[in-house]
Amino acid sequence: MEYNIALLRGDGIGPEIVDSAAAILRKTAERFGHRFNFTSYLIGGAAIDETGIPLPQETVDGCLASDSVLLGAVGGYKWDELPGDKRPEKALLGIRQALGLYTNLRPARLYPALRAASPLKDEVVGSGFDIMIVRELTGGIYFGDRGYREGKYGTEAYDTEAYSVTEIERIGRTAFETAMKRDKRLCSVDKANVLESSRLWRKTMHELAQEYPEVEYRDMFVDNAAMQLVRDPKQFDVIVTSNMFGDILSDEASQITGSIGMLASASLGAGTRGMYEPIHGSAPDIAGQNRANPIATILSAAMMLRYSFGLADEADCIEAAVNRVLDEGYRTADLLGSGGGSALSCTEMTEKILGVL
Ligand code: IPM
Ligand code: MG
Repeated sequence: MEYNIALLRGDGIGPEIVDSAAAILRKTAERFGHRFNFTSYLIGGAAIDETGIPLPQETVDGCLASDSVLLGAVGGYKWDELPGDKRPEKALLGIRQALGLYTNLRPARLYPALRAASPLKDEVVGSGFDIMIVRELTGGIYFGDRGYREGKYGTEAYDTEAYSVTEIERIGRTAFETAMKRDKRLCSVDKANVLESSRLWRKTMHELAQEYPEVEYRDMFVDNAAMQLVRDPKQFDVIVTSNMFGDILSDEASQITGSIGMLASASLGAGTRGMYEPIHGSAPDIAGQNRANPIATILSAAMMLRYSFGLADEADCIEAAVNRVLDEGYRTADLLGSGGGSALSCTEMTEKILGVL
């Protein structure tokens, strides 16, 4: 098969980790007789430096013309002082919206080989956990009406959380379908004791639940969910939640797996084109030092093969190669934990994985 893949390398460690994942994809294509054509486009700070704006139209058009998109990360100290709509992060929100990617799948699973890196105690972790966070990605407060106005205490800034039944239904359906393919347990996270938008979210989810009698459904308030994730992560199979709650809970979920450097994500819409990216950021503190962990991006590339191209064997093969290298004890700096040991560089880790692919 032949596929066109847009590469958005972005800022900070973005270029290093995208190059690693592209090398893994190239080798996979060779092994299985496919052809992947890569085209790079500017995004984030790199695009601001080159063109003055974080998301050039050429990037949007290039992504729309591709079969799928692999993204590194955006942002860095250099652009931190720019106004909100000119920041690198705006490009990320913009490209998700332009591609209609309303579903964000963020798996958080504990790798047995990395058990020691998790901050949770043995009795909490038990035999491990495997959670899929389904985050709504193109609605809610990150896209709502915002601005400045005169308030009770003078000038104030505001952002608005708003969700329509249509938006809740489509992400809810994805979550129920995801649960059906897994352990058939779904927890919807909201703040329905306070927020009107959450009350509509909950009501809509309850209606959907009628259509999926096989799924064991429940609701949870977000503050409780934040606590339950560290108290007893095994209780969760699939979690569905809004854009902001999903942003926050997925970082928490990643940390209990041991390292944010391991977690992949898939952003999907109505069709097969998706955008795949690690859930960590651009890590400007280690950018350009060849110290980044490329695994989250490599696993994101595997998700692309699985979800966008239907190449499950190829995805399995990449995941198995990552597991094998971890089982053999190879670690990047972020995975060493308190035990010490010697760390592989980003390119060395990539070479190790390529070696067993
Ligand atoms: C993420 C990030 C982004 C988000 C930022 C950088 C806009 O935190 O992908 O989780 O909030 O979605
Ligand atoms: Mg985030």
